[in-house]
Amino acid sequence: MQVTISALALACVAVVAGCTGQAGTNSSRAAQAAQAELARLDTRTPYPMTASKTWDHKQKMMGFSAAIARSLQAAANDDWEGVATASSPLGTKPRQEANCDNVWGVETGIDAMALDFRCRANKIAEAADTADHRAVLRATSETLNACNTCHAAFRSELQ
Ligand code: HEC
Repeated sequence: MQVTISALALACVAVVAGCTGQAGTNSSRAAQAAQAELARLDTRTPYPMTASKTWDHKQKMMGFSAAIARSLQAAANDDWEGVATASSPLGTKPRQEANCDNVWGVETGIDAMALDFRCRANKIAEAADTADHRAVLRATSETLNACNTCHAAFRSELQ
C-alpha cells in the first residue's frame, strides 16, 4: 500500500510538472505570437532599450505629461511663475539652448525630435513671462505636437 501511494504521488507530481511545463511553453508561445502580431501592426521605428532604460523612459514620459497638466493648471490660475516652474523640466538644459536655432541641422532621428520638443517647451516659460494665456496655450500646443511627432515615428522595443 505504501509503495502504491508513493507511486501515485510520484505520478501526480510528474503529471502536474508535465502539465505546467506544457502550459508554460504554450503561454510563452502565445506571448511570442502576440509580440509578433503587435510588431506587424505597429510599424513605427523600434527604439531599442534595456528593461531599466525602458522604465526610466516611461517615468520620464509620465513626468512630461504631469508637467504639462501642472503648467496649464497654473496658467488657468494666472500663476505665471508656476507656469515657468512646471514647464521647466520639459525645456532644454542651458547648454542645448544654442542649438535651438538649428534643431534639424544638428542631429537626426529621435535625438533631433527630442531637441525640437525641448526647444518648443522653452517657449512655454517665455510666453508665461508675457502673462498671455493665448501665447501659453499656443506654445503648449506646439510642444504637444512635438510629443505627437515623436510618438508617431518611434516605439520602444526591449533589448
Ligand atoms: C523624441 C521622442 C519623444 C518625445 C519628444 C516624447 N515622447 Fe513620449 N514616448 C516616446 C516613445 C518612443 C514612447 C514609447 C511608445 C511605445 O512604445 O508605444 C513614449 C511613450 C510615452 C508615454 C507612455 C509611457 C508609458 O507608461 O508607457 C507617455 C505618457 C508619453 N510618451 C508622454 C509624452 C509627452 C506628454 C510628451 C511631450 C510633452 C512626450 N511623451 C514626448 C518618445 C517621445
